[in-house]
Amino acid sequence: MMNNPLIRKSVRTLEAYTPGEQPRRPGLVKLNTNENPYPPSPWVAEALTALPVETLRLYPDPASTGLRQTIADLHEVGLDQVFAGNGSDEILALCTRAFVEDDGTIGYFMPSYSLYPVLAAIRAVRGVASELTESFEWPARDPEPASLFFLTNPNAPTSMQFPKGKISAFCKRFSGVVLVDEAYVDFARESCLDLAKTRPNVLVMRTMSKSYSLAGIRCGYVVGPEPLISALFKIKDSYNLNRLTQVAATAALKDQASMRENAERIKATRGRLSTELEKLGFTVSPSEANFLWAKPGRQTAGALFEALKAEGILIRYFPGERTGDHVRITVGTDEEVDRLLEVLGGLI
Ligand SMILES: Cc1ncc(COP(=O)(O)O)c(C=O)c1O
Repeated sequence: MMNNPLIRKSVRTLEAYTPGEQPRRPGLVKLNTNENPYPPSPWVAEALTALPVETLRLYPDPASTGLRQTIADLHEVGLDQVFAGNGSDEILALCTRAFVEDDGTIGYFMPSYSLYPVLAAIRAVRGVASELTESFEWPARDPEPASLFFLTNPNAPTSMQFPKGKISAFCKRFSGVVLVDEAYVDFARESCLDLAKTRPNVLVMRTMSKSYSLAGIRCGYVVGPEPLISALFKIKDSYNLNRLTQVAATAALKDQASMRENAERIKATRGRLSTELEKLGFTVSPSEANFLWAKPGRQTAGALFEALKAEGILIRYFPGERTGDHVRITVGTDEEVDRLLEVLGGLI
């Protein structure tokens, strides 16, 4: 592959993104990809069951109008201020194509969602990482100018939320597009959605994969100023969201009560897990997400990851200078967390 002239040079040298493992082994405690441990709203099953299979013969609505109207109503914005994607990952990739010239740059914090540098490499533009502070907080100096800045809030894998005042002031000063990736916001204190309604350069993105328990349908959306949204429409695949996804996501979004109930349960378990980990000698960052970012006190993070894996518990470990002494643990059900704590108790 490295020397194959049939393949574009930037692809030959690309270090592809490694998604968390999706093993099929039954009985595993899977706390590695920040999925929701609870089922989605029952309205999803009802809506999918009511869908006549015969309609699958036809292409879906290319503009996902029904779904987008539901999102627009939920956030009190116009239909033309909403774009829906095949997972929020698709939206991130589209942003790199819509808002970045060939000689432009893409900025992001370090550490943050590790897909961002890969997207810059795929687009063959420069990715510019701005280091967070030692304790993973907003740095003293603003990130340098870029065509597009990916700002995850709450941040991943660090789980912490940046102060809204910092984000708001940064968006004002920044001349490029700021995409605030709010994948985990339903587990957090506050949202930046109002910035997407008022600032000409701000997009706020959400996903159905975490708080709505629908990682399997692949659906994300973004809210923002109409000119940026219509740029995304211009370059998307014609039918980027399939019919089943449009139906399932619409049903889930209409049942806010069910999503909130699950999010509250996860937040309660998160508090308990955090306290127990601290008792076991971990340093745990204050989480505003459905996962914890924790530094083991008595073992290396890599050894802990492997030891838990051997016991059938999957968590996430990101080797590297800024991340290699921590592990990321998705908050599962109370039973899963009990099992994790039991095994940890025996290991430490
Ligand atoms: C910060 C962040 N953004 C986006 C995504 C991708 O979400 P989706 O499933 O909607 O593609 C993830 C998934 O883990 C994430 O952590």
